[in-house]
Amino acid sequence: MAGRILAIETSCDETSAAVLETGSAGPAGLKSLVILSQDIHAVFGGVVPELASRAHLRTIGSVVDRALTSAGVGLDDLSAIAVTAGPGLVGALLVGVMYGKSLAFARGLPFLGVHHMEGHLFAATLEDPEFKPPFVGLLVSGGHTMLLDVPEWGQYRLLGQTRDDAAGEAFDKVAALLGLGYPGGPAIEKLAATGRPGRYDFPRPMLREMDREGSERYEFSFSGLKTAVLRATKASNDLERDRADLARGFQDAVLEVLVEKTARAAEELNYDTVMVGGGVACNQTLLARLRERVKPWARVVAATPRLNTDNAAMIGAAAAWRLARGERSGWDLEPRADMNFPGLKG
Ligand code: KG4
Ligand code: ZN
Repeated sequence: MAGRILAIETSCDETSAAVLETGSAGPAGLKSLVILSQDIHAVFGGVVPELASRAHLRTIGSVVDRALTSAGVGLDDLSAIAVTAGPGLVGALLVGVMYGKSLAFARGLPFLGVHHMEGHLFAATLEDPEFKPPFVGLLVSGGHTMLLDVPEWGQYRLLGQTRDDAAGEAFDKVAALLGLGYPGGPAIEKLAATGRPGRYDFPRPMLREMDREGSERYEFSFSGLKTAVLRATKASNDLERDRADLARGFQDAVLEVLVEKTARAAEELNYDTVMVGGGVACNQTLLARLRERVKPWARVVAATPRLNTDNAAMIGAAAAWRLARGERSGWDLEPRADMNFPGLKG
């Protein structure tokens, strides 16, 4: 089904809308993308759900209008509407789901609810037409850390996920205890670049499990590492002097675990493509180390930072593939704070 999709994402603290051209098999070009970040949360050091919902409600109309205008299309030119249905903050999701659903119902357009993490998985297809399964996907965001075997679009085998904090969450928490702002990932990466490697040799959580038999091989855990950084921070008598070294030690530990497990999975599955998605995929040090590690036999695919943090274009990309298969959501679609990843096994 060739046409034009309007996609809406409101799962957390970005109000976003995008217009995409679609072909018979999936996304065929991004026409516009508007992302409005809610800066109100910075003063609280994290996202405040109630404030997020209100901000979405205030801005969703103008964000959608702007996306349509900059794509040079009107509502009459649309062939479908897609929204993030979950997982995320339920009040925030509700705004996008209701807005999209009302518009689709009023216009008699096909309507589809998309899983936020499947959106992250599709983000790189918007820029790289060669990118397709089979591949190993590392999804690392503020709420999730998942290693996936993707033999085909829509078929996902969970190799491992985090037992506690997500990778991005660990970056945010460590940034907070080092006195850096929110979100913490970009601040830690920048500071770590000036830190001395090896001065703080933090544990590599669950890395040794990779060499043992069992279901824990590809699992992650970041909360112990966060505690180790907390202890080292408290033990420091000159945080000004030690801050960059602490950031470096923390980042080196997280990245080593992410890189080694992703590389091993691709090796074992004999895949020549590795994909990284989600907000933490903005970390250029992660991408550089992973590229170096798998260089002889695999390429690393990652979207540009604008498409890796939360945005509606990636939701449109996943929707384009599902709509092309004839999938639709009913008018009874409701947002879900937790939502099963479609097609996920394991
Ligand atoms: O995917 P995303 O925008 O939102 C969620 O779905 O959670 O991811 C946000 C997360 C935050 O935890 C943020 O600190 C992290 O991505 N992040 C980074 C970097 N840029 C964003 N983490 C590490 N290094 C970065 N450069
Ligand atoms: Zn996300």
